Amino acid sequence: MEALKAHEELRKYNAELMERAEQLAVSSRYKSEFLANMSHELRTPLNSMLVLTKLLADNAEGNLTSQQVEFARTIYSAGSALLQLINDMLDVTSIEAGRMGIHPILVSLPKLVRLLEAAFAPLAQDRRLSLIVDVEPDVPNELRADEQRLQQVLRNLLSNAIKFTPRGEVKLRVAMAPPGVDYDDDSLHDATDLLAFQVIDTGIGIAPDKRDVIFEAFRQADSTTSRKYGGTGLGLAICRDIARLLGGEIHVDSELGKGSTFTLYLPASYIGPLAATDPGTARRQLMTQPSEESATTAPELVEPPAETLSQWQGDDPLNGAKILIVDDDIRNVFALTSVLERHGSTVVYAENGREGIEQLERNEDVALVLMDIMMPEMDGWATTSAIRRMPQFADLPIIALTAKVMRGDREKSIASGVSDYVPKPVDVDDLLERLRGWLSR
Ligand SMILES: Nc1ncnc2c1ncn2[C@@H]1O[C@H](COP(=O)(O)OP(=O)(O)O)[C@@H](O)[C@H]1O
Ligand SMILES: [Mg+2]
Repeated sequence: MEALKAHEELRKYNAELMERAEQLAVSSRYKSEFLANMSHELRTPLNSMLVLTKLLADNAEGNLTSQQVEFARTIYSAGSALLQLINDMLDVTSIEAGRMGIHPILVSLPKLVRLLEAAFAPLAQDRRLSLIVDVEPDVPNELRADEQRLQQVLRNLLSNAIKFTPRGEVKLRVAMAPPGVDYDDDSLHDATDLLAFQVIDTGIGIAPDKRDVIFEAFRQADSTTSRKYGGTGLGLAICRDIARLLGGEIHVDSELGKGSTFTLYLPASYIGPLAATDPGTARRQLMTQPSEESATTAPELVEPPAETLSQWQGDDPLNGAKILIVDDDIRNVFALTSVLERHGSTVVYAENGREGIEQLERNEDVALVLMDIMMPEMDGWATTSAIRRMPQFADLPIIALTAKVMRGDREKSIASGVSDYVPKPVDVDDLLERLRGWLSR
């Protein structure tokens, strides 16, 4: 009798727990969605702020005082820091909600390393550090991984290394993982194709009791870090989670005052994410839905021919090109128009998709279209599909500009027929390079 009662009670308790867990899952999903939308809404106005302050700081007309240029630079760098924070927040929430998609492709290792070297060499030089790149001869030329995410992790580790190294050197080393590494995840002990990406610095180092803490969100080695070096403490938390999603692990080895080595162990061929071992992550996974993201390779957008800036000093393809901007946010149109006109392009613009098509019919000499995606009534995808149905515009380069970085967007862009896809806020130099690439085809 007693046992039966206890059993009944246990059952009731269990049911109640399940219900609570369900409620938590729902509210956590709302929270993630809210944050993702918020981040999007914050990016759009930030976009025009960044583009316009960059223009001011460049002082092309030479009519600003040096102090005014300095102000513009400060606004630009504060805006960039804000953007970084928003991006990090979005990453944290999409990882928590199990929504960070992994899109593995074949990645050329020499190209990846060259890209990172080019990106960080000026920074290292500024700080009088030597940046050394060392790829062991026995590593494969190609690996299968999510290139963008892999880059994100390595960029984070490199920027930390440079930030926390007052003198000496920062080294990026790629090698096969040596035997005998003590992995957190058992399945890695059997892997035969593990690569080790190491970022080695001669910087301030990390105290032994801080080596776990630094991987937690919003945590830095000590309370003076943010005052002295800036940052918010999200970088390594994101890196650790992405490493796991990529099927790998990050380890740290350090000596206070001598330097640190961060190692990303990664299978040369992506097989899937590692199961979470950390209790925090495990709990989050229980409360949230399983990832809906499939691990299949998304088709790649066509790459425009990559060109370097210096090539265009004489004959800039932007010069004289007619470009159509379709965007409902007049601030964006204004910002982009000023940049393009400075490079000699002629700009026509349309406030919505329907008008965009009319503009094209009136201006058959338009060489390229910049297409905003989020527009009322007829969005950028629908407009692009409609343009593609007009035979004379089958090959017209259409570049989608969007602050939306939601799941499924890449697939949608490809399906609608856009030629390229540029995230907002727009990095002006990057955008110009891509336009030149498309215009000079
Ligand atoms: N290469 C490094 N050398 C010394 N300390 C580091 C290094 N990388 C990270 N740290 C420590 O780990 C903390 C967390 O790093 P991170 O999550 O990237 O945040 P942030 O860079 O915003 O401070 C840093 O604040 C710093 O205290
Ligand atoms: Mg950092």
